[in-house]
Amino acid sequence: MKTITKTLLGSAIGLAMAMPAMAEEFRLGLITPPPHVWTRAAEAFGAELAERSGGEHSVTVFPAQQLGNEAEMLQQLQTGALDMAFMTVAEVSNRAPDFGAFYAPFLANDIEHAARILRSDEAKGMMDQLPATVGVVGLGYGMAGLRQIVSRGDVASAEDLAGLKLRITPFAPILDFYNALGAAPTPMPLPDVYDALANGQVDAIDMDAELIWLLKYYEHADTVVQSDHMMFPMVGLVSGRVWAGLSDEDKALIAELVAKHVDSTIDSYVALEQDWLDQIAATETTYTRVDADFFGDAVAQWNAIWSEKSGALDMLRDVAAATAE
Ligand code: BEZ
Repeated sequence: MKTITKTLLGSAIGLAMAMPAMAEEFRLGLITPPPHVWTRAAEAFGAELAERSGGEHSVTVFPAQQLGNEAEMLQQLQTGALDMAFMTVAEVSNRAPDFGAFYAPFLANDIEHAARILRSDEAKGMMDQLPATVGVVGLGYGMAGLRQIVSRGDVASAEDLAGLKLRITPFAPILDFYNALGAAPTPMPLPDVYDALANGQVDAIDMDAELIWLLKYYEHADTVVQSDHMMFPMVGLVSGRVWAGLSDEDKALIAELVAKHVDSTIDSYVALEQDWLDQIAATETTYTRVDADFFGDAVAQWNAIWSEKSGALDMLRDVAAATAE
């Protein structure tokens, strides 16, 4: 009897292992608009997954916050209502503060350096905590260049930022940075920024070169300050619940392709960032370049706050030192 049970069990396990992966129609959400580098990478991921799975799997990409803002999408990932997202590390850092270390002001000397930091084993290792702390699986990093400041008024020194209603992405590290500068940081999701700047609801915005150029934010500003003050990583996420239901074969394929396509965004920004900045500098908007000195002791203040909040800051500083050129 025992032998029969064992045999039946054995063949059931054998059958399960030999079973072809189930066809899945995945939903992938992001907040970026359709022509954005991240959205195009998500579409390319979907196309390659369909091809490599022989048409078994498909991905429908929902850009421009169609499924909700990032906080809402992260919740949907946790419950399994959403399968995948290409999401700012900023949002993840609201749940897992270690990730705040990526936003150490001037951690990266330039965009190539930011790329090397993000591609380090140490940075990748930080994703290991995500299933337990956030309920999602992180499969790789992308980025959106370095951060700049766009202002409706003149900005000749950091004192000119004091009291300004300055739009920020809703996350703590950037809030702490602008608070240290005496600005009035105003958290606002990306899709709301254009109108807020155009109609004067905010005085200034924290933004990257791609969007300053492509969405023409500079047209509603007197000054663009190229400060390169922070990197802006993205992470490719799969719902932990959805992941648990995938076959090993599907996990391997999805892990490979998400990592490949989010990483491709790093190459895009390294290749294109300077062009966007040059084109912004050539407009009639006043364009100034500044370095860490411009921000006075705000950088030191930020470091003091975040050495308490993030356990990964020293590690990423070591990585930055080891990968600087
Ligand atoms: C932002 O909040 O500024 C942002 C979000 C996603 C991609 C690029 C920028």
